[in-house]
Amino acid sequence: MRTQVAIIGGGPAGLLLGHLLRAEGIAVTIIERQSAAHVLGRIRAGVLERTTTDLLVRLGLDGRMRQEGLRHDGFFLADGERLIHVDIAALTGRHVTVYGQTEVTRDLMEAAAPRGLAVIHGAADVALHDVDSDRPAVSFTLDGRSQRLECDFICGCDGFHGPSRQAMPAHVARVFDKAYPFGWLGILADVPPCSDELIYANHERGFALASMRSATRSRYYIQVPLDEPLADWPDERLWDELALRLGPEAGGRIVRGPAIEKSIAPLRSFVCEPMRHGRLFLAGDAAHIVPPTGAKGLNLAASDVAYLSDALIRWYAKGEGDGLAGYSARALARVWKSERFSWQLTRLMHRFPDGDAFDRRMQVAELDYIASSEAARTAIAENYVGLPL
Ligand code: APR
Ligand code: PHB
Repeated sequence: MRTQVAIIGGGPAGLLLGHLLRAEGIAVTIIERQSAAHVLGRIRAGVLERTTTDLLVRLGLDGRMRQEGLRHDGFFLADGERLIHVDIAALTGRHVTVYGQTEVTRDLMEAAAPRGLAVIHGAADVALHDVDSDRPAVSFTLDGRSQRLECDFICGCDGFHGPSRQAMPAHVARVFDKAYPFGWLGILADVPPCSDELIYANHERGFALASMRSATRSRYYIQVPLDEPLADWPDERLWDELALRLGPEAGGRIVRGPAIEKSIAPLRSFVCEPMRHGRLFLAGDAAHIVPPTGAKGLNLAASDVAYLSDALIRWYAKGEGDGLAGYSARALARVWKSERFSWQLTRLMHRFPDGDAFDRRMQVAELDYIASSEAARTAIAENYVGLPL
């Protein structure tokens, strides 16, 4: 088989990139290991920056998001006693949209066939070949039969555990990796949210986050030790802990209900440099991971894809190679700023096991400074709403 751009990974990054290229008449094939149902079954974050929603608008795939997405003009930081409002709209003139990543993926997936975007699901043994040459290829097994896809470029959108980053020669790739000493226990429940806006809480007992998917579906998280057994957290214990950590005002408004989904995820900061080698380009979680505190994961995948699609479109339309040559540096400049913001907010809002009384005072003082300084709130707001492309 032959195509112009082979994309490995049919998650949000791969689907978004595929649509943007297809819309310009570029031949694209997406090779995805899992079934479509499996991809849609993943519960992920749900705060979209303007960068991300603009791409959906550009593709004309923003219809359901406009109907079901929730416009958010701010969020709260809580320090166990008070709620500190960060008024994003007043401070930056922009807002974020709460619309689950699953829904973004669903919109992109459902539009693939009607728009001639080929997505192969259930591909096994995916391997990259000759990424250093001008005739790279991807091999895989489909229904027990070996396949080989010749292409001009390979875009690795296969997430943190995919094969693309591994296809970069060891002497070329440099990785930066930080694992955090705790995880997030998340619960999804069909109950109304306790707050109209998100609440990030740093409580003596640990971090908590009150979020939502809609006016009738809530998403909550609490920080737990890394090796915490999920079985130790029956719903009632989790609702009790959330009420404590979110404080009396918000905690008192929590509506309880049975968990639709409950799981523990580790937190990590990770970057692979460069994000390109030869004809292989990395985008999204294949190249970087952020702790979910700053809600940057999907949004960073979107900005990578905005840069990469622009570069590939210019190559095919005008034979210009500078976008491709500059892709890695351009994407990494935004990646590192988002890594910094996510790391900073994680440090501010979590109880670190090796933290001492002084560290706690530093967190309380920083939250007090944010509460009293519009400049401090503006710095947080402009990062949360998304730095310009
Ligand atoms: N072959 C083909 N596909 C693969 C392989 C493989 N060997 N390995 C992984 N994949 C697929 C996965 O099944 C998944 O559907 O690549 C896709 C990667 O999607 P994501 O992990 O969602 O990463 P990305 O598209 O970059 O989106 C980033 O997703 O995980 C969240 O927090 C993350 O919000 C961020 C967003
Ligand atoms: C979520 O709703 O899942 C969510 C929201 C904001 C975050 C992380 C997760 O920072």
